[in-house]
Amino acid sequence: MKGTIFVELVSMAEDAFGEDVVDLVLDKVDLKNDGAFTTVGNYPCSELIKIVMAFSEHSGISAEVLQRKFGHWMMDHFTENYAEFFTGKHDSFSLLEAVDGEIHVDVKKLYPDAELPVFETDRLADKHLKLTYSSPRPLVEFCHGMVEACLERYKETAAIERCPVSGRTNATLFDIRLNQ
Ligand code: HEM
Repeated sequence: MKGTIFVELVSMAEDAFGEDVVDLVLDKVDLKNDGAFTTVGNYPCSELIKIVMAFSEHSGISAEVLQRKFGHWMMDHFTENYAEFFTGKHDSFSLLEAVDGEIHVDVKKLYPDAELPVFETDRLADKHLKLTYSSPRPLVEFCHGMVEACLERYKETAAIERCPVSGRTNATLFDIRLNQ
């Protein structure tokens, strides 16, 4: 995974627990590079999972909740640093529909070594979107946080139901119904 993701995870932890605690927690995790991540580096996703687990053990907050919070954090980061990807996207559904065919395509051009998930979308009605997320990485809660953050960004609220997709172990369906 891109170093940016690790740098931001460490930033979120520093924001939540303070720098000293982060140093102590990371010291105890068996990381290949001793926890010194740079934005230009590339690190295995398994290291990200180890870090999340360590902060979960330290704080008592479940790894699922931490991943979801991190999804919100990354959405804020992308909003601040990649404004061009949001141009012309006036609601959450148009943003979510653009991730696979536009946004992540451009991300891949910028960072050819990025490991990206696959999204399929199906607009069942104006306020009803089926979003199927597929990834071999265990980041479904992170994805859920990103989806929630997309809605918040446009001041929308929705009921999000998550279900497995039969016959596809790496896929999860997000069934999203806007409230208003
Ligand atoms: C709007 C600007 C966006 C940018 C610049 C962006 C960029 C990126 C980057 C750089 C990665 C990491 C790839 C790697 O580490 O190798 C990533 C991963 C990911 N992105 Fe995006 N993304 C954006 C929007 C979204 C949105 C709206 C979603 C909504 C669901 C999303 C879902 C994900 C997920 C779930 C991953 C983790 C990889 C995986 O699940 O396999 N992204 N994205």
